[in-house]
Amino acid sequence: MKNKIKDLISIEYLNRDEITEIFDLAQSMKANKNKYYQALDKKVLAMVFEKPSLRTRFTFETGIFELGGHGIYLGPQEIQLGKRESIYDAAKNLERWAHGIVIRTFAHSNVTEFSETVIIPVINGLDDLVHPCQALTDLYTLREKIENLSALTLAWVGDGNNVAHSLMWICAKLGVNMNLGVPDGYEPNKEITLKVVKEASKNNAEIRIFHDPDEAVRNADAVYTDVWTSMGRETEAERRKKFFKPFQVNSRLMDKARPGAYFMHCLPAHRGDEVTDEVIDSIRSIVFEQAENRLHVAKAIIYLLMR
Ligand code: CP
Ligand code: NVA
Repeated sequence: MKNKIKDLISIEYLNRDEITEIFDLAQSMKANKNKYYQALDKKVLAMVFEKPSLRTRFTFETGIFELGGHGIYLGPQEIQLGKRESIYDAAKNLERWAHGIVIRTFAHSNVTEFSETVIIPVINGLDDLVHPCQALTDLYTLREKIENLSALTLAWVGDGNNVAHSLMWICAKLGVNMNLGVPDGYEPNKEITLKVVKEASKNNAEIRIFHDPDEAVRNADAVYTDVWTSMGRETEAERRKKFFKPFQVNSRLMDKARPGAYFMHCLPAHRGDEVTDEVIDSIRSIVFEQAENRLHVAKAIIYLLMR
């Protein structure tokens, strides 16, 4: 990166060149594992996780290992941010031992506080507002399939949540059209929506919000969904089911998209809720390619930030 960025907090703070650099490096790492062997020799990645994870934890821990470094996982019981000690004190400790931090937490402000407190890179491994590593992987995965991303329409069906926000940002930056089909009252964050609509139009793309899933998937090249209830909102799960039922991605809905449209999901999936087995197990589904690519993209991110 020419003017090397310190952190990966949100796609909002990346430009098109930086996104492309991550994609190109991930592609090179995927094609030639050995070329980057020992690139982060003896570097330590602190992995601060306040929420559960399979993919993010596994891919960052494997990623740092494959580059010659070491990841240390700190789960919810370990640091107990803000309870056992303050975010400031925990961050100031970690900075003395580690060369980078991945953090998965609740409030977005926890991530920015970490970033402002330490001089080492801070990578957002998901918070209540955004999930940038996921969106980078998703557009990288689509680029493997469709070279000209700007010709693409991505449809999001479901909750206007953290994954949706990061996808909106990356689509806006890359000039990809995005339609969101969300239940009334579950729209994405207003401030983010205003910003991404503006950014997308600068890049000749549109980001549109519908309350009808059929309209959202019309002409879509890929249909993406996520759980109806995100981590931390479990008490709302039952109430949400009623509103989200018409937003299930099933064969009927997939048939409204372009023929051959891909099905995408960040996972974990709640089969039978937001997606049927028939769709997630179909040949249109690229969910496990997304999962695999989390590794290559995680490696590209830590290499660019920590080397
Ligand atoms: N997609 C994703 O971030 O998965 P995990 O929650 O398992 O890390
Ligand atoms: N929106 C989901 C994504 C999980 C990867 C959540 O926050 O729980």
